[in-house]
Amino acid sequence: MQGTKAIAVLGHGAIGSVVCERLLAGAVPGARLDCVVTRRAAGAAAPDVAVPVVTADEAIGRADVLVECAGHAALAAHGEAALTAGTDLVVSSAGALADGSLGERLRAAGPGRLFVTAGALGGLDVLTAAASAAPFTTIRLSTTKTPAALVQDWMDAAQKEELARADGPVVVFSGPAEEAAALFPRSMNVAATLTLALPGAPVEVELIADPAAARVTHVVTAAGPIGDYRFEVRNHPSPANPRTSRVVPYAVLQTLRGAL
Ligand SMILES: NC(=O)c1ccc[n+]([C@@H]2O[C@H](COP(=O)([O-])OP(=O)(O)OC[C@H]3O[C@@H](n4cnc5c(N)ncnc54)[C@H](O)[C@@H]3O)[C@@H](O)[C@H]2O)c1
Repeated sequence: MQGTKAIAVLGHGAIGSVVCERLLAGAVPGARLDCVVTRRAAGAAAPDVAVPVVTADEAIGRADVLVECAGHAALAAHGEAALTAGTDLVVSSAGALADGSLGERLRAAGPGRLFVTAGALGGLDVLTAAASAAPFTTIRLSTTKTPAALVQDWMDAAQKEELARADGPVVVFSGPAEEAAALFPRSMNVAATLTLALPGAPVEVELIADPAAARVTHVVTAAGPIGDYRFEVRNHPSPANPRTSRVVPYAVLQTLRGAL
């Protein structure tokens, strides 16, 4: 269709499936869902989406915009190829860009343009504005999730047991955002989003496991010469993936609107 951009969605999980569904419903004027990349073999029947399932390379060749909803490894595998081919790239996995070399490579690549969604977080507009006037003296992020959402493969049996048996909130990590991102990669897209939006400003992270946490809570506090800010976000988890907040696919679609 003339005047519309062809969109390829990479990953059809909790985020990607909602992005596809909303695109097919016409939620983003000027955007047409063209194809999806899943882990299924290209060309396989895709009962839950009415567009072709293709390989990542084919998607990059067909689409004007590739929307990554597949995780760090998929972004590392296909992001640069998309940008180099002139395909714009919308990134869900912001945490992957905090990995120095991949972040640098993607920012340097083109002619495709790189867009990173704010995802589960709000308030970045005023924080980036204040930081452009004068650096913040402190930025803190406190994230609360269920223990199950914070268990990591590297934890030993005793640590996993302690989390599983917690009957109240437990601080599982406190320290710099870079360290948090390395230890809790699937839970720290929000910390990475803050770090990317406010480059050079150290972000201190606290991660809390709370068995009573029905929602994913992020509290951002930032203080500096321009003002003091506090944002509290209380997201419902995605029904399909408790590690992901329900709002994220809608944030991705919002980023896509800005990218067209
Ligand atoms: N920015 C944010 O606030 C935020 C929040 C949550 C998640 N995320 C990111 O979004 C990613 C997706 O989240 P989700 O909840 O949809 O995860 P999910 O596990 O529900 O879905 C990911 C899907 O991608 C598929 N996939 C993985 N690698 C692939 C590849 N190479 N090619 C094709 N498909 C591939 C998987 O099979 C899966 O179906 C997460 O890994 C995370 O990095 C970002």
